[in-house]
Amino acid sequence: MKKREFLTTPMFEDSLKVLILGGGELGKEVAIEAQRLGVEVVVVDRYDWAPAMHVAHRRYVIDLTNPNALKAVIRREKPYAVIPEIEAVAVEALEELEGEGYFIVPNAKAVKIAMNRVTLRKYAAEALGLPTTKHAFAENVDEAVDACEKVGYPCLIKPEMSSSGHGHVKVLNPSTDAVKAAYEYAVSHARGRSRKVIVEEYVPLETEFTVLTYRYVDDGHVNTEACDVVEHWRYGKYHYIESWQPSLRPKDVIDKAREIGLAVANGLGGLGIFGVEVFLTKDGRVLFSEVAPRPHDTGMVTMVTQELSEFAIHVRSVLGLPVPKPKVISPGASLAIYTDKDGLWSPKLYGVYETLKTPGVDLRVFGKPYTYRDRRMAVLLARGSSVEEALNKVREASKHLFIG
Ligand SMILES: Nc1ncnc2c1ncn2[C@@H]1O[C@H](COP(=O)(O)OP(=O)(O)OP(=O)(O)O)[C@@H](O)[C@H]1O
Ligand SMILES: [Mg+2]
Repeated sequence: MKKREFLTTPMFEDSLKVLILGGGELGKEVAIEAQRLGVEVVVVDRYDWAPAMHVAHRRYVIDLTNPNALKAVIRREKPYAVIPEIEAVAVEALEELEGEGYFIVPNAKAVKIAMNRVTLRKYAAEALGLPTTKHAFAENVDEAVDACEKVGYPCLIKPEMSSSGHGHVKVLNPSTDAVKAAYEYAVSHARGRSRKVIVEEYVPLETEFTVLTYRYVDDGHVNTEACDVVEHWRYGKYHYIESWQPSLRPKDVIDKAREIGLAVANGLGGLGIFGVEVFLTKDGRVLFSEVAPRPHDTGMVTMVTQELSEFAIHVRSVLGLPVPKPKVISPGASLAIYTDKDGLWSPKLYGVYETLKTPGVDLRVFGKPYTYRDRRMAVLLARGSSVEEALNKVREASKHLFIG
């Protein structure tokens, strides 16, 4: 892990280049931060004009789960770093490329562990010894029935691989038929053909944290640091709606969350940022939930709260540049804007004039070419004199916005 002494000019033979796998709104901000440092940016996604492609030097449209397609593009481009922005990538291709000397962020093993709930939970609970929800694993209906009995009710069945809550089912009480139906639902909504699931105790949540932890080159060695924790709330949905920073929870709770974040990032290794998801339960437990070895959607709030956003931290870390711990310069909040419309091409965002009248309110429009139900299209950001004020600002501002 070498420190970087100089930056280059893009579009030349010896340009410093990064290749981003998945060009969503998080990849777009990573691309912008890389562009700011004169880095050449290549974006790869499954559809054309994904958000990050609008700010890239080149773009490719391929099936990211196809290992041959992935290898062909990466070998052609020969980037300094391959930066996965989504989970659904052909990880076996990344392992092979890493063996050839490519730098996969943070490393292929971490990508592989984190994309799979079963391997991730085993790693966190057994190898790292972190506190988690009570859980059990199953790979057929009978095992699922046993797993639910072991964990207790209510419980959640989640497929081994999926994202954004796909295939999660809550089982309320001991009924073999309900467990069987839930199991079949979960595996039929999995990514890939796996029949494996995790059954988790359903814990009443007090709140949720994202610990943005990052590993960067600090002179001769790699240092691990964590941002002040981000807090977020989902209103019973699987996707995040609001996030804010700093958290006003008691120091001992925040310290425990931070320790979990550092342990996970240190365990997985490599360079870059990790969004470590931590629960605070109603009965006061601080539990590791899961980790994304990349910027996190709830961390978009850092674009207005921190000296360096999570995206800037990611890019600096990956490039081998120093990342002195960024201060929180203002309390702030984010509110994600989803659409309920299906199949709308060239969507418009209305109400922006009223929305942006409020001082301290800002907007990021992702530029997604078409909508589907529950697709995130934009995010509102606000600074305030307190988190409460910032949250009120984004909530008020969001009332004016609609997608049509
Ligand atoms: N065991 C649990 N008990 C209570 N709530 C849970 C539990 N597991 C998950 N949840 C809720 O569901 C949300 C999504 O869960 P999880 O992070 O496992 O799914 P995901 O598919 O990875 O979603 P995302 O990609 O948005 O993180 C959590 O943030 C939390 O609000
Ligand atoms: Mg999650």
